Amino acid sequence: MTELKNDRFLRALMRQPVDRTPVWMMRQAGRYLPEYRATREKAGDFLSLCKNTPLACEVTLQPLERFPLDAAILFSDILTIPDALGLGLYFETGEGPKFKHPIRSKADLDALPAIKAETDLDYVMNAVSTIRGALNGRVPLIGFSGSPWTLATYMVEGGSSKDFREAKKLMYSEPEVMHRLLDMLADIVIDYLNGQIKAGAQAVQIFDTWGGLLSTWAYKEFSLNYMQKIVDNLIREHDGRRVPVILFTKNGGQWLESIADTGADAVGLDWTTDIGDARARIGDRVALQGNMDPTMLYASPARIREEVGDILRRYGSGPGHVFNLGHGITPEVKPENAKAFIEAVVELSPEYHS
Ligand code: CP3
Repeated sequence: MTELKNDRFLRALMRQPVDRTPVWMMRQAGRYLPEYRATREKAGDFLSLCKNTPLACEVTLQPLERFPLDAAILFSDILTIPDALGLGLYFETGEGPKFKHPIRSKADLDALPAIKAETDLDYVMNAVSTIRGALNGRVPLIGFSGSPWTLATYMVEGGSSKDFREAKKLMYSEPEVMHRLLDMLADIVIDYLNGQIKAGAQAVQIFDTWGGLLSTWAYKEFSLNYMQKIVDNLIREHDGRRVPVILFTKNGGQWLESIADTGADAVGLDWTTDIGDARARIGDRVALQGNMDPTMLYASPARIREEVGDILRRYGSGPGHVFNLGHGITPEVKPENAKAFIEAVVELSPEYHS
């Protein structure tokens, strides 16, 4: 394997000393970049782009050509798993994902095929190994999956939702059906992430985008429980290196201690939690990733820089911080503002590492 030229992202996740705070952005390959829109045009639509190995590789590398980022993230989507389960995923322009065949009952669940992620989602594994080759050790490659709960919300709702009433109705009225769905998804996610690790992913992140809409007991029972099962069964060392795991529950700030207790290496924070408070609570156990409000990228470069400075100051000195946004970058952001964000981290963070 090629030697890794920039390992500060992996080192920070393991809370080892670094020269400056590493930075990447959730959704860093996306519609805010004109070159992404051009490549997606070539592919046809978004799903075809995910399934086209050379083009998925091309868009993964695009943000790295523009900005001094410390990690690449596989270009794919969390909904590849329900797609492989035959739910009929499609994207309606401007409306987000939709499924032709949502899961609303025990019968729907019983009708799902058994899949093997490594073969049924081989295009994802091919993308990982191709991107890893193209990176040639420049920065580490992050693999990812949705959490079972977050995948289940899309599968039960049949798409995005404002109130998640179908997913919650199933969870409260037929908890055993929801548990079976979640357990099946956890097993698939384990194979899916381990497949990505074997194909070359050097860290993995689990996106629990909708865990934060649950009550505390329900979060633990229906979301965290299954992320725990995943953490317990992931390959944690590959090619002589630790493969760090990042758990990101959006709106999960009140449960940081429990999330850290899973044995994950790092916890992703959205912007609603003060990163200094989070560090005081759990920063001696895990690394923290985050947490600028992505909407701040609509402000001026000077205001963005000030906010980056504030977050660095609140985290304080020493290792264990990976800078990121608190959620994905949005299509309307100007690339030069994303650049101002990343350069501010590069320029302002060395003083916190001596
Ligand atoms: O971060 C990256 O650059 C890697 C790629 C990535 C995508 N989706 C590409 C994408 C990652 C890590 C995801 C994760 C994902 N996908 C999540 C979890 C993170 C989060 O944002 O909460 C979720 C919930 C999804 C499901 C999904 N995919 C939705 C709701 C949408 C539509 C919303 C939108 O932004 O339009 C997608 C589509 C999607 N996934 C796009 C991209 C670049 C936009 C599609 C396009 O090009 O038109």
